[in-house]
Amino acid sequence: MTPLDFDIFSLPSLTGWWLYAAVVAGALTLDLLRRSLLPRHSFADKHVIVTGGSSGIGKALALELLRRGARVTLLARTEARLKAAVDELKPSCAGTARVRYSCASITDSVQLDKAVAAAAAEFGAPHALIANAGAAAPGLFLEMPVSTFESQIDLNYLGTVRSIKAVVPAMVEQGRGHIIVVASAAANVGFLGYSSYAPTKWALRGLADCLRNELLGFGIAVQIAYPCAAPLSSSRVVPTSS
Ligand SMILES: NC(=O)c1ccc[n+]([C@@H]2O[C@H](COP(=O)([O-])OP(=O)(O)OC[C@H]3O[C@@H](n4cnc5c(N)ncnc54)[C@H](OP(=O)(O)O)[C@@H]3O)[C@@H](O)[C@H]2O)c1
Repeated sequence: MTPLDFDIFSLPSLTGWWLYAAVVAGALTLDLLRRSLLPRHSFADKHVIVTGGSSGIGKALALELLRRGARVTLLARTEARLKAAVDELKPSCAGTARVRYSCASITDSVQLDKAVAAAAAEFGAPHALIANAGAAAPGLFLEMPVSTFESQIDLNYLGTVRSIKAVVPAMVEQGRGHIIVVASAAANVGFLGYSSYAPTKWALRGLADCLRNELLGFGIAVQIAYPCAAPLSSSRVVPTSS
């Protein structure tokens, strides 16, 4: 038989298939074992700052964190929505779990620094940050002005950079911390109409990857999430003109 006679379908005999199945099952079992032995991260009694915590994914994450006993600071711009979210979440506080809010825009480092300082004064130095605040500005590339691309990068990418900058010195000082960046499925696939949004989320992948290596030595873990469309809020789309 020459290499050209190679027929993939006739290759593995019945014994070959069993061997193949055994190797796959073995690998899956080892992976399950590895996952179950990994230490679980506990948020109990930890101070977690959630940007964009007054609505949608951020509020849902805050709820889960409170159920796990965390002290949670919701950070966003609109005080009325933050107050409403705190009122809604308070009944979920049990044990040491507590919830508060800080008003700030992630487009403004001065506001962010003040908000993080106020949060730290009340709940202690932040142990974790969920950098979730962001929004999409869908539109066709040919129709969108450059200013839309600028405001999207300022909010989604630089806003995340500013948020991390605001918490990371305290984490370095404590020798521990946890940063979770909320990107999007659009960080992996280019969808029509998302040319101003997707690149900002792709940029977050690069940022998270670099920081994961750079901050490891300080005891700070960096993770990134790629949520798909979540029907949690009607406010996540900003007009392309803003
Ligand atoms: N929902 C989805 O289907 C989906 C899918 C993939 C990825 N994502 C990503 O997941 C994150 C959350 O999305 P979502 O749909 O849950 O959002 P959402 O419900 O629209 O909530 C956005 C949150 O961010 C806050 N926010 C907006 N601009 C801000 C700013 N400049 N500074 C501080 N806070 C700001 C909002 O409050 P204020 O307006 O009061 O500031 C609000 O709390 C975003 O990064 C989004 O790109 C969402």
